[in-house]
Amino acid sequence: MIRPIVPDDIAAILALTQSTNVFQPYEIDTLEAVLDDYFRENSELDHRSVVFAERDEIIGFVYHAPEEMTIGSWTLWWIVVHPERQGQGLGRKLLAYAEADARTHGAARYFIETSSLPVYEPTRQFYLRTGYTLNATVTDYYNAGDDKLIYRKGLV
Ligand SMILES: CC(C)(COP(=O)(O)OP(=O)(O)OC[C@H]1O[C@@H](n2cnc3c(N)ncnc32)[C@H](O)[C@@H]1OP(=O)(O)O)[C@@H](O)C(=O)NCCC(=O)NCCS
Repeated sequence: MIRPIVPDDIAAILALTQSTNVFQPYEIDTLEAVLDDYFRENSELDHRSVVFAERDEIIGFVYHAPEEMTIGSWTLWWIVVHPERQGQGLGRKLLAYAEADARTHGAARYFIETSSLPVYEPTRQFYLRTGYTLNATVTDYYNAGDDKLIYRKGLV
């Protein structure tokens, strides 16, 4: 079942994200701050987030938001599937849900940013397999030798 996140989900979302072993500790801290801000005010500024839950267990999570100072540009901030459930179509389902949700709320195009580091190669393959194209590369953005890659998909 895909449903909007609630404050009681925060601990499970952080544990799920950590369990992928893709993210640095500071990124998990950032996610915690993002979720706190979401419930404090950002949910009222069109930020949106859902989980995929089976019974009481959260096995997938998505967070996205419109870009300020744009007309119709949305960005996926986070997408996570439990490591034991990856490769079974759940990420594709969550991303499709997010794109449809963004479109319903006025999105015309959807962006995803990621790192050029080797650890993100599977993630980059996932974006290419779900219809995204590499739109821009910002050299050394995250660190020397760690570029920001911006993927894009038109929604209209
Ligand atoms: C990226 C992620 C969300 C993908 O979810 P998933 O459920 O494993 O992906 P799906 O099973 O829906 O796969 C969708 C497509 O992507 C492809 N894909 C997924 N993982 C892949 C991998 N490791 N290597 C190559 N292709 C991959 C699949 O082959 C599939 O394509 P197909 O249907 O044409 O065969 C998941 O692997 C994950 O949580 N990764 C760790 C967290 C992360 O990196 N998040 C993104 C940054 S916020």
